[in-house]
Amino acid sequence: MSPVIAIDGPSASGKGTVAQLVAQALGWHYLDSGAIYRLAALAAQKLGVALGDEPQLATLAAGLDIRFAGGDIFLDGESVEAQVRTEATGNAASAIAALPALRAALLERQRAFRTAPGLVADGRDMASVVFPDAATKIFLTASAEERASRRYKQLIEKGLLANPDDAIFQRILQDIRGRDARDSARSVAPLQQCADAVLLDTTSLSIEDAVARVLAIHRSKSAV
Ligand code: DC
Repeated sequence: MSPVIAIDGPSASGKGTVAQLVAQALGWHYLDSGAIYRLAALAAQKLGVALGDEPQLATLAAGLDIRFAGGDIFLDGESVEAQVRTEATGNAASAIAALPALRAALLERQRAFRTAPGLVADGRDMASVVFPDAATKIFLTASAEERASRRYKQLIEKGLLANPDDAIFQRILQDIRGRDARDSARSVAPLQQCADAVLLDTTSLSIEDAVARVLAIHRSKSAV
C-alpha cells in the first residue's frame, strides 16, 4: 500500500494549499476530498435533488462522473472549478456531508486516489475514517478570526469584493464559525483531531513555514 499523509482541519485553514505543496515537494499525488463533497452538492443542485434526500444523494454520489486534471475539475465532462469553489456550494457540501449514506458512497472513491509513490489527502476525516493507517496525520488549524481574515484578503485580491468593509468581514467570520459548528457537531465522521494526529496551528505561520513543518513531521514519523 502506498504511504499517505492525512491533513485534516476546518474550513479556510489553508490545508488545501499546504497539502498541495507538500505533495509537490514529495512528488506524490494529491486528494482534495472537500472538492468531492462539493461536486456531489453541485450535481444534486443541477439535477434538482433535495439536499436532505439521503437515498437519492447516495445513488447520485456513487455514480458521479468526476475528473481532476491540470488544476481544473470536471463534472460530466464540464469544467466546474469556479462553481465548485463558491460559498454556496461549500455550504451545500457541508449540509450533505452530514448524511451517512452519502459519506459511505464516497468512501471507496476517495481511497482509489491512493497510488504510488504516495498520496497527500486533505479533508475532515482523512485520518479517522478514509486512511486510518496513514503514515503521518496532521490536524491543521488556525483561529477563526485568522481564517476569516485570510479568506477576506483572498476575495479582495481576486477582485470579488467591490466594497470591502467590516460588515463583510463579520459575515465571513460568522459563516466560518457556522461551518465549523456544523462539521464538528455531525454524528458521522465529525471534524476532530485524531488521538494520533499532530496539531499544527498556523495562526502565526506563513504557508512556507507550515509546509516545512509538515515535511519535518513526516520525516520524523517515517524515520521511526
Ligand atoms: O474542505 P472544503 O471546505 O472544500 O469542504 C467542503 C465541505 O465538505 C465541508 O464543509 C465539509 C465537507 N467535507 C467532509 O465532510 N469531509 C471531508 N473529508 C471533506 C469535506
